[in-house]
Amino acid sequence: MTDKIIVLTGAGLSAESGLGTFRDEGGLWAQHRIEDVATPEGFARNPQLVHDFYNARRAQAAEASPNEAHVALAELQARWSGEVVIVTQNVDGLHEAAGGVALHMHGRLTGALCNACDHRWEAPMTMAPDDPCPACGARATRPDVVWFGEMPYHMEEIATHLASCMLFASIGTSGQVYPAAGFVQEARLAGAETVELNLEPTDISRAFAQRRFGTASQVVPDWVAGLLG
Ligand code: OAD
Repeated sequence: MTDKIIVLTGAGLSAESGLGTFRDEGGLWAQHRIEDVATPEGFARNPQLVHDFYNARRAQAAEASPNEAHVALAELQARWSGEVVIVTQNVDGLHEAAGGVALHMHGRLTGALCNACDHRWEAPMTMAPDDPCPACGARATRPDVVWFGEMPYHMEEIATHLASCMLFASIGTSGQVYPAAGFVQEARLAGAETVELNLEPTDISRAFAQRRFGTASQVVPDWVAGLLG
């Protein structure tokens, strides 16, 4: 029997670190149109607007510190007898700042990507549409984040982990964006225990065998302490 745990995280995990979520009241998608700032078409129409959006988020994320939930998940990774795979939809670096390791399925704010040659490099704090690619020189620089209509990163590796885990936990995510929202079904097919930890019930809560509601900084350390005994 495998003792692998998969933890999927979303914006609610970083809410108490001061980073806004997307769909809560007053969240990012109440202030910006998804099609303008988080699609390839929006970037083609107005790259400056898209860079402004991600530059602001990069600056905010650089000021943020991990909260108790990020720290507890890093502790779980360090102390659990088996493997703990953290898959995050978050583009901030707070798992790593807490000492954890995460697969960033929606990319990272600290990455830059050339739309012309796919070269990747460390993003400067402020990116601009005419920044040249250090490899090919093209002025087609974009943030290395995944937009709607694009394939998330690490999908094959994640599918392999989901097929062989004993426990799947979903933390601070509304379950409205696929493919991440479908991971619980994949884990159940593999025979895994499933648990949702979130501020409140989500559209997919009923897919989980267990549910724990409260702020991430409260419920995640409690859940981790229970696992570590
Ligand atoms: P959402 O904003 O959709 O959902 C955040 C969830 O966190 C909600 O269910 C909240 O109830 C919950 N929440 C809020 N504060 C919390 C707290 N302190 N503790 C615990 N839970 C809390 O964010 P995501 O589900 O992460 O993708 O969004 C998924 C994807 O949609 C993002 O990666 C992004 C977005 O559009 C792209 O941009 C491609």
